[in-house]
Amino acid sequence: MDSGSDKEKVRKYYDQEAGDYHKIYQEECDEYPANQIRLNFVVERLKQNRVRTVLDTGCGTCTPMLRLLKEGFKVKGFDFSEEMVKAGKEELEKAGAAPNLIGQGDLENASTLPDEKFDAILALGVFPHLSDEAKALSNMRQRLNKGGLVFIQFRNDLFAAFTLNKYSLDFFLNRVIDLSSLPDDVAEEVISFYSERLKTDKPDKRTKGKISFLDVRATFRNPLTVEEELFKPIGFSVNKIHFYHYHALPPIFENKYPSLFQELSLRLEKSNDWKGYLMASAYVVEAIKND
Ligand SMILES: C[S@@+](CC[C@H](N)C(=O)[O-])C[C@H]1O[C@@H](n2cnc3c(N)ncnc32)[C@H](O)[C@@H]1O
Repeated sequence: MDSGSDKEKVRKYYDQEAGDYHKIYQEECDEYPANQIRLNFVVERLKQNRVRTVLDTGCGTCTPMLRLLKEGFKVKGFDFSEEMVKAGKEELEKAGAAPNLIGQGDLENASTLPDEKFDAILALGVFPHLSDEAKALSNMRQRLNKGGLVFIQFRNDLFAAFTLNKYSLDFFLNRVIDLSSLPDDVAEEVISFYSERLKTDKPDKRTKGKISFLDVRATFRNPLTVEEELFKPIGFSVNKIHFYHYHALPPIFENKYPSLFQELSLRLEKSNDWKGYLMASAYVVEAIKND
């Protein structure tokens, strides 16, 4: 996303989602328990690293925060959606925690963030919406103690090589093959080849030499390059990449065989399996602040 109005769209979207957001963590929820799986391994790693204080950025309605408080961590949080903060405060109060543990803040705007330091900072479900990831990461760095850790969730760009759907078209034609190096007629042939193989409509629009899709706007990140491209320049080393939300089969089978799909996918949930590079739609980067 690259403009202020995109940011407002994201904020409005989450304002509208706030009322029901905590339900995605409930066991009876039909959705795949991806957020719960993510929260479980993040808590495990915080414990293993003897973290005591945590800042949860984009805290939503505070389900992760409440779990962390219960586990004994000292936690604060913020979110840029006013409605999320309102709903989050209610959830904290209901659970007997202090509502002023959270407030409103924008991760890309340093002056709106808490002015203190933490052992670890989380951004779960936040980075795919940002227009300036480097700025956000550098804001996080400034609020970390020496040797502090970040846990940042990304959508997995390589998953598109497994899904064989319209996202794959975008992946192969915009990020793997250099269409601009081809004569126009060969480029057209290659575009047709992928559209036909993937049985997706041929993209009809190109902007700045890139194929564009009106409905594909989320930011994906390649786990093979994320350290060099984003973390190293801001002064972090990547400790681990934790994959989650595995898909046992390409997503098209999910509607056809929902319970088989879910059961087999749950069995694959191992955050350090090489298959995660292809079959997991998301991952969390655990990185340490360099001196
Ligand atoms: C997918 S939700 C995840 C909520 C929570 N972290 C969780 O794991 O349950 C993402 C949250 O990030 C917030 N968010 C998105 N961009 C943000 C930004 N620039 N600064 C602060 N919060 C942001 C949204 O309002 C939303 O509540």
